[in-house]
Amino acid sequence: MNRHTPHDKTGGRSVDEITSGRRLRRMRKADWSRRLVQENRLTVDDLIWPVFIIDGDDRVEEIGAMPGVYRMTVDRAVREAERAARLGIPAIATFPNIELSRRDPTGSHILDPDNVINRATRAIKAAVPEIGIITDAALDPFTSHGHDGILRDGIIVNDESVEQIAMAAVGQAAAGADIIAPSDMMDGRIGAIRDALDANGFQDVAIMSYATKFASAFYGPYREAVGTAGLLRGDKKTYYIDHANSDEAVREAEQDVHEGADMLMVKPGLPYLDIIRRLKDELAMPTFAYQVSGEYAMITAAAANGWIDGDRAMMESLLALKRAGCDGILTYFAPKVAEMLRG
Ligand code: PBG
Repeated sequence: MNRHTPHDKTGGRSVDEITSGRRLRRMRKADWSRRLVQENRLTVDDLIWPVFIIDGDDRVEEIGAMPGVYRMTVDRAVREAERAARLGIPAIATFPNIELSRRDPTGSHILDPDNVINRATRAIKAAVPEIGIITDAALDPFTSHGHDGILRDGIIVNDESVEQIAMAAVGQAAAGADIIAPSDMMDGRIGAIRDALDANGFQDVAIMSYATKFASAFYGPYREAVGTAGLLRGDKKTYYIDHANSDEAVREAEQDVHEGADMLMVKPGLPYLDIIRRLKDELAMPTFAYQVSGEYAMITAAAANGWIDGDRAMMESLLALKRAGCDGILTYFAPKVAEMLRG
């Protein structure tokens, strides 16, 4: 029997002749075969949960542009960290919203051992020692101008900012942070943080470099969350990478590895899958993506309008980051994903 389908109308060749008998749909025909050949998986071990911390007691504030995400007081953060640990989430990353009266041009409050980030670290470490704590040493939530470094005469001064950031990192390590993740993009900060940590006995504290952080429109809701939106004048193009560039991103990441980064991060996530793949292939480092606030907001807003299936879009975007080469992902969806993965 001839298994070729005759195709008079299309001029002759059958599908089997065209494909030489290779039919990729064979393995897609059932759920069991699709599961069997699945190349990438998202697991709870891939998740890092960013949380926003505020001063006060037993209070949360919803963030307008991030429905479902809350700023929370330290006591609430401890409870959320307990929940995250129960869900199997390996680590959380903390970001503060600092009272305006404590912000100044140099972000000096970042050095206060009792600022809300250091208090949160100590409280979470005491209550949930099994969860990893990642802190950001960038100055922006602490500065009166919302920039990540020190601003002098309209310029973000590099070396002075690096000194401040390295000192902040030591303070965060002293409070118990496991990983310092500087998001500021100053030149030389990874090496300076490594030196400062080592000089103060924190050899075991790791550095996750925001190695390739792009000047991006997708950070908008975060700036509402940490209260820098109204303060920031101008943009961050003199320190974040131009989003047109890919070779420069590789050079930046190489430099950070050379200076002592233990892990690399690409930020934002989904628009930068090519960068993730290049870093993974060229540097072979533990590589992470930050699915940022604007990515969260887009999925959440479209889902709220009934325009997309939010849960599926969430899972697809995270798996895409894994497929691109990520070892893990910072995502505001972390607890929800963990719950879904646990069925
Ligand atoms: C700044 C910082 C940013 C984010 C975290 N730390 C970007 C910015 O405000 O310019 C973005 C995180 C997000 O959008 O989810 N150091």
